[in-house]
Amino acid sequence: MRIGILASAGSWHYLQLEAAFERLGITVERYYITELMAKVGMSSSSFVSGSFAGDERLEDLDALIVRSIPAGSLEQIVFRMNALHCLEQAGTFVMNQPLAIEKTVDKFYTSSLLASQGLPTPPTIVTENRDAAMEAFQELGGDVVVKPLFGSLGRGMVRVDNPDVAYRVFQALEMNHYVFYLQKFIHHENKDIRVFVLGDRVLAAMERRGSAWKTNIAQGAVAYPVELDDYQEKLALKAARAIGCLYAGVDIVRSRDGEMFVLEVNGIPGWEGLQKVSSVNIADEIASFVVKGREGCC
Ligand SMILES: Nc1ncnc2c1ncn2[C@@H]1O[C@H](COP(=O)(O)OP(=O)(O)O)[C@@H](O)[C@H]1O
Ligand SMILES: [Mg+2]
Repeated sequence: MRIGILASAGSWHYLQLEAAFERLGITVERYYITELMAKVGMSSSSFVSGSFAGDERLEDLDALIVRSIPAGSLEQIVFRMNALHCLEQAGTFVMNQPLAIEKTVDKFYTSSLLASQGLPTPPTIVTENRDAAMEAFQELGGDVVVKPLFGSLGRGMVRVDNPDVAYRVFQALEMNHYVFYLQKFIHHENKDIRVFVLGDRVLAAMERRGSAWKTNIAQGAVAYPVELDDYQEKLALKAARAIGCLYAGVDIVRSRDGEMFVLEVNGIPGWEGLQKVSSVNIADEIASFVVKGREGCC
């Protein structure tokens, strides 16, 4: 069996997966997405990885796990994503599926899909127009989180609860041609839940407790083990399914008055913090999911 992983060299997640596949007797091949090369309309059309000698035909892989899509220009991102689509069409099992990755990368698309499936997600307004954004700020109660559409790790998102600050923030964003993604601020106790879904089951979960409203581990929050109730478990599974993720990290926040909201679904979920408070070896579970069958979602 040939398993490829798109990741940067030495990344913690890559090393975890490499070791997990090793335990199953499989040597994985690592590729870096910026080194992909597509040969089209030639004697042997193929996708090869430029960093390897010879033609490493990626479409001959049994599975390709996507662990990293670094930032790039619009052209670079479109090429990389379309290359993944073409690989999938050529018969390679790509995880997560490119369509799901595209949906989760765009916070607007994720929010919209969650809401359209009737899943609770905070009221959100997305626009390219600064005046409309000012109106949206008021409509959302004058206390919002402004998020980068393609952000992660809690980076670049700001809470704005003052109209003058809103005006200045929107002006700056407009100058750089950003889309305004405004989400109602949900008052919570500086904690949320990260649920790791694999196939049709919840594999692990943690409570993340921060010292402020951003509860990403990357923002200094600390992970604690948590027992999910039935509602939270079902909510996470439905959220992952709404986006079409084979595996996902689902962020769920509970408001001060007890309402539950899905904040986002991560299509390339990390599990370094989660692993510290989980008894199950997450990389082992992912590896056997890929090898033994992808029950549940595909
Ligand atoms: N609408 C909101 N109200 C209150 N806190 C929020 C809201 N949205 C995000 N947060 C906090 O910020 C963190 C990061 O937000 P999230 O939407 O998950 O983006 P990222 O992709 O950067 O993790 C969340 O885990 C949560 O703690
Ligand atoms: Mg998040």
